[in-house]
Amino acid sequence: MRLLITGVTGLLGLNLAWEAHRHGHEVLGVAGRRSLPAAPFAVQQADLSRPGALAAVWAWARPDAVVHTAALAHLDACEHQPALARQLNAALPGEIAALAAADGIPLVHISTDAVFDGARGGYTEDDAPRPLSTYARTKLAGEQAVLAAYPQAAVLRVNFFGWSLSGTRSLAEWFLHNLQARRPMNGFTDVFFCPLLANHLARLILEVLTARLAGVFHATGSACLSKYAFGVALARRFGYPPALIRPASVAQAGLAARRAPRLTLRNDKLANALGHPLPSWREGLAAFFAQYQQGYPARLRAWAAEATNQATK
Ligand SMILES: NC(=O)c1ccc[n+]([C@@H]2O[C@H](COP(=O)([O-])OP(=O)(O)OC[C@H]3O[C@@H](n4cnc5c(N)ncnc54)[C@H](OP(=O)(O)O)[C@@H]3O)[C@@H](O)[C@H]2O)c1
Repeated sequence: MRLLITGVTGLLGLNLAWEAHRHGHEVLGVAGRRSLPAAPFAVQQADLSRPGALAAVWAWARPDAVVHTAALAHLDACEHQPALARQLNAALPGEIAALAAADGIPLVHISTDAVFDGARGGYTEDDAPRPLSTYARTKLAGEQAVLAAYPQAAVLRVNFFGWSLSGTRSLAEWFLHNLQARRPMNGFTDVFFCPLLANHLARLILEVLTARLAGVFHATGSACLSKYAFGVALARRFGYPPALIRPASVAQAGLAARRAPRLTLRNDKLANALGHPLPSWREGLAAFFAQYQQGYPARLRAWAAEATNQATK
């Protein structure tokens, strides 16, 4: 299929493009400020917050299916730029859904586990969201805009880690860099999540598109843990001293956007719809380590390298 992926330079979009390309799909990627000049598929740069940009992208791509991952996904940036957060996270998804509805093509919209307040944990798709931050509020508004414009769209609430272009985007990369530098760091013992490896999530997204699932689904890992425990598991997997990670509380961290403590989501609805259990962070971490050993991060980053001038004088 001709698969349009917005946010193709982002942590999820990049790994999704890798998986989709590997599965034989024709990838059409939309990047924002960064680009992928050496990627083995078409990439268009566009500022999707600008009027007319989406229409131009749509005319260029003529997609058979769409995965919308682009967002203002930094929590603190959303607090500082609420209008941009509303435009990108709430309005744009509705506009994409209207275009997908008009063409009758499958759409997966990427939302977040952070639509919940994290007070209780164990959330199902039937639980009422209660977003705590500008990021989470605008992402919830985006979900609602998508399903209002296109009830046949799939909205996936996610949390993931993996290899990024910058090498610093995901929590796993952050822990790893500090461990490699033997720099002590804090890990929150009171923030729980159920992350998937971005590549595992990417394969689930392709399955959701093929199955044409509709509605809200939790596409999170099958096991949950604290961010501290995740850092310790990662340190052990990569052979670094876990003691470099200090147990800490998020309450004392002085972050601009409020963090929800127990973002543990049940994924039974998606597992039942796809007919198999979803992977867990354990399998994800094992695959993340294998990717590291196989040079996967460098191969991803090579897509961003400017073509070298081979001409001789
Ligand atoms: N990371 C997580 O653990 C997590 C957790 C829950 C939900 N999510 C959701 O998952 C999705 C992907 O997140 P991510 O971590 O992969 O994001 P990311 O690494 O921050 O990347 C964001 C992507 O959006 C693009 N973008 C931003 N502003 C744009 C604009 N004005 N025009 C065009 N493109 C623009 C960026 O392009 P450039 O970089 O080229 O400018 C980039 O490709 C988001 O919807 C996010 O809300 C992420």
